[in-house]
Formats: sequence, C-alpha cells, structure tokens
Amino acid sequence: MDVQTNLGFTVKDVAKAVQRGHVIIVIDVLRCCSTVVTALANASDGVIPTKTVKEAHVLHKKHPEFILAGERRGIKPKGFDLGNSPLEFSPQKVKRKQIILTTTSGTKAIISSKNAKYVFTGAFLNAEATAKAALRIAEQEETGISLISAGTDGRFSLEDFICAGAIAESFQADNIEHSDAVLAALLAFQQARKSLDRVIRSGYHARYLTSQGFEEDVKFCSQLNVFKIVPFLKGETIVTLNGSLLFY
Ligand code: MLT
Repeated sequence: MDVQTNLGFTVKDVAKAVQRGHVIIVIDVLRCCSTVVTALANASDGVIPTKTVKEAHVLHKKHPEFILAGERRGIKPKGFDLGNSPLEFSPQKVKRKQIILTTTSGTKAIISSKNAKYVFTGAFLNAEATAKAALRIAEQEETGISLISAGTDGRFSLEDFICAGAIAESFQADNIEHSDAVLAALLAFQQARKSLDRVIRSGYHARYLTSQGFEEDVKFCSQLNVFKIVPFLKGETIVTLNGSLLFY
C-alpha cells in the first residue's frame, strides 16, 4: 500500500491530520522541537507540553520537582527555571528530570495533535531518525504521514517548511506518494541544504531570535541529523520512542 504524505502549514491544519488517522510529525525548528529532542538526548525523563503559562504553573505547583520551562515572545516567563533555548537543556540541568514546557506555537501544535495515535516531534537535529520511525509505523498501520509545521504565531514559517523537506527526503521508499506541498518542501530543502544555516538565518523568526540575543540557538537548531532520538507523545508526556513500539 502507498504511504501518502501531507504537509500542514500551521496549527490549524492539525485537525485534518488527526481526522485522516495519519501518523503526525509536528515540526518546530525554532525552537520547541529542537529543545524537546535536545532535552531527551541529554537524558530528561520526559517533556510535558502545556498550552498556557498558567497551566504550566498549575502543573508545577503539583510537581515542584519538575523543571518549569518555556517562552513567550522568545523570553523565559517570570518564575520559570529555564527558557526555550535548547542550549540551556544540558545534562547537568535535565538528566533524569521531567520538564514542563510551554511555548508560543510548538507545544500548542503538539497538544492539538494528541488525539492521533502516533505523534512525533521533528527538527533538523533529528530529521532522519524521525522520518524513518514515522515511515515504519505508517507502513505497519497502513496509513499516511502528516507533517505539521507549527509555524510562528499562526503564520507560515520558512525553517519548518524546509525541515519538512529534510524529513521527506529521508522517507526513502518506493511506495511514498507525496502531496504537492511535500514535494515543494523537498525541492526547497534540496536547494537550501548547501547553506542551511544561512537560509534559516534569513527567516523571520530567526531574525527575531537573533535580535533577542539567541543567535547561537539558531545556529544549533540548523544542524542536520545530530541526534537519533525520536520524541514520541505518550499520553501527556513526550518521551524517547522505544524500539518496541516499532514492532507491535
Ligand atoms: C514556539 O513554540 O513558538 C517557539 O519555540 C518559539 C521560540 O523560538 O521560543
């Protein structure tokens, strides 16, 4: 059976992907999904996304041992332990710890996807690993794959679009049927890959983050396939995908 792929450009496209019964890959390169994969790579026990700062505070009150992290307008909210810079999520800070994370667009897209059976999060840092896991599951479940760009505050985002292309390139199977949007993302990635860092830096959100002093985050998030970790939403928590899931 052919595996169909689709690409949604903002959080609003999540509902259709859930309805289709697709495996969902939420993409938010700058910076939510890059932060999630870095935290898990540095041995965090899991990341609990919340939609609002208030919900994050309420959950933290119940679990003061969890790390409270996130951003609004890119900046760490008052009273939070960490912001949303992946560079802050070092092994010293996050090893064996659960993290409550709230971000402007990324965590909203992840939570909106939660009625799907399989939700992964993808970034350049783990593009290939995510693509391979999602394809394996889509073939097993005889369904398609929806890539969802979290976007920037409801708007199209260049770096997420190009990352969708990077993930699509790693699907590598004869039975893939890409939508035109995925094909366009693939072409954009193939054009951008020689100077990924420069292309990503030219986008709106990268320029904003740079203006706020987060230039190093943009550089870090522009690296391709640094991690083999595949973040997977299990109940309310994003955890590292366990190999056994691929063989039920
Ligand atoms: C988001 O989820 O909107 C982003 O991760 C924002 C950011 O760069 O911190």
